[in-house]
Amino acid sequence: MAPPQSRKPHLLRPVEAPAGKPAVELRAPTGHGQFPRVRMRRNRADDWTRRLVAENRLTVDDLLWPIFVHDRDGREDVASMPGVQRLSIAELGDAVGEAAELGIPAVALFPVVPGERKTEAAEECWNPDNLCNRAIRAIKRAVPDVGVVCDVALDPYTSHGHDGLIEDGRILNDETLEVLCRQALAEAEAGVDIVAPSDMMDGRIGCLRDALDAAGHQQVRLLAYAAKYASAFYGPFRDAVGSKSALGKGDKRTYQMDPANGDEALRECALDIAEGADMIMIKPGMPYLDIVRRAKDAFGMPTFVYQVSGEYAMLKAAAERGWLDGERVMLESLMAFKRAGADGILTYFAVDVARRLKAG
Ligand code: PBG
Repeated sequence: MAPPQSRKPHLLRPVEAPAGKPAVELRAPTGHGQFPRVRMRRNRADDWTRRLVAENRLTVDDLLWPIFVHDRDGREDVASMPGVQRLSIAELGDAVGEAAELGIPAVALFPVVPGERKTEAAEECWNPDNLCNRAIRAIKRAVPDVGVVCDVALDPYTSHGHDGLIEDGRILNDETLEVLCRQALAEAEAGVDIVAPSDMMDGRIGCLRDALDAAGHQQVRLLAYAAKYASAFYGPFRDAVGSKSALGKGDKRTYQMDPANGDEALRECALDIAEGADMIMIKPGMPYLDIVRRAKDAFGMPTFVYQVSGEYAMLKAAAERGWLDGERVMLESLMAFKRAGADGILTYFAVDVARRLKAG
């Protein structure tokens, strides 16, 4: 039997060219999915393709703006956070009004509690007329449609700067829960929309949900600082609210998480979700992007991230020296949160970013 005619596969036959031009030789179809057939740079070549293939977008709807409020007149710069100021209650209406106008959905209030109001047991935290609660009312009166978030944690109110009650140098868990509930109820009465427990006591989410519901505050949402690390990146914040001197050389490692741990963060999230958290938060942000991604993948919950004071200060300080392009690193750092899976970002850049996004 004659051997089958050897025949060049169609693809390998030269393609006829217009008269006078050499035929186009086709190469053997090797190297699928490889260079030079594949060139990743094609999609990056022009602004219009880059926009078409962009996977994530940062919008004003992603932003929550943390604001420091003090019990004085006028504004005061926060030395370690260039561009950030402590505002008086009288100024809140205008400042939050501008944020709302720019489209920022929510603000987070942090009171600078005067030293003489701080005590061992943080009684001031549930005073209906404390600075925080007066600030909530002022905002709700001036800008009713903006979301108001408040921490639930004792540290602004304790003379020792810790987030819990202390006995013999130990931070008490269960006794602290009762005080947190009183604090949250006072905030809810003042009109807070989101209560954000940031103290890392065990069992707080369930207790707070029960307490709020029992008092008729079913609509108040719980944003759990679910995985909050014992981080040195909070330094400038403690400056801003004046809890640094109170805490002194102390640290929060018996309740905030060890930066070495990731699996434990997922357990913290799972517990807070089971106890009734409406949203979870990871904090700090940039050094913990892996945790943001894991939490988002594992639970599919509304997941927030806090770009904390130290992250802000680093970027600002380098930009001031001309070592970094301030605007670009601001946008890039926030985009990284989106890429990691964050739905919302607490950032001191919120107003700057909103202005920048509006300008296009
Ligand atoms: C209070 C609280 C802290 C921050 C938010 N809420 C500081 C801390 O836990 O010591 C830090 C925010 C920031 O650094 O921007 N529990």
